[in-house]
Amino acid sequence: MPRKLAAGNWKMNGTGESLAEIDRLAAALPKAEAEVAVLICPPATLLERMSARLTHSAIATGGQDCHFDESGAHTGDVSAAMLLDAGATHVILGHSERRNDHGETNSDVRSKARTAIAAGLHVVICVGETEAERDAANTLDIIQGQLAGSVPDLVTGENLVIAYEPVWAIGTGKVPSMAQIGEVHDFIRASLERRFGAGVGRSVPLLYGGSVKPANAQEIFAVHNVDGALVGGASLKAADFLPIVEALAAA
Ligand code: 13P
Repeated sequence: MPRKLAAGNWKMNGTGESLAEIDRLAAALPKAEAEVAVLICPPATLLERMSARLTHSAIATGGQDCHFDESGAHTGDVSAAMLLDAGATHVILGHSERRNDHGETNSDVRSKARTAIAAGLHVVICVGETEAERDAANTLDIIQGQLAGSVPDLVTGENLVIAYEPVWAIGTGKVPSMAQIGEVHDFIRASLERRFGAGVGRSVPLLYGGSVKPANAQEIFAVHNVDGALVGGASLKAADFLPIVEALAAA
């Protein structure tokens, strides 16, 4: 069984005063939960401060992107080594907002994942279909293409997390049916097992993301092969994120 993971993606939200939310979260989760890992991915500007605040906590931190080069002339970009240096253990790669806003391709995501893993980070690779792709019954083909194109060969059960985030469910309040989530998660698991073998395939945590809230978390975590969530809006406030962590621990 993969370890359960409750991950928060703060996206482009948060300044120094938002760290009070992290203090609240850390106070409510004083020690490592045996079954649930907790990860927060703040904007790069907050990463070092947040990591320092969480030194004595079991909550991990991560970046939201990194460059595929180790260093160099890439104005405005952040390298995997810089994320590590700022205290991160994880990095989200291939989020649909990066794919859309910055034209990231599967091949870009794969290169970034290679660099991040080589630097010692765990990668959270995002996949997910648009509404038009779902309407055209192309969801599983799109997911398969993203997995094949974005996930590098060198992953293990230890350094890879996959997040299934249907683009139409992100920030919209719309959530797929539990059967639709289950179908995609079972498909991702089978695809990973085929490519990497049963041992690795089975131990990769599969997260669902897209309008996860305290009110729907329990139902989502009951779905087969859902090992946690990648939460956007509801991860910004400890009062919203904590019940999601608790629902995952109880699942
Ligand atoms: P919301 O939870 O705000 O829908 O965002 C999901 C997401 O994109 C997490 O990466």
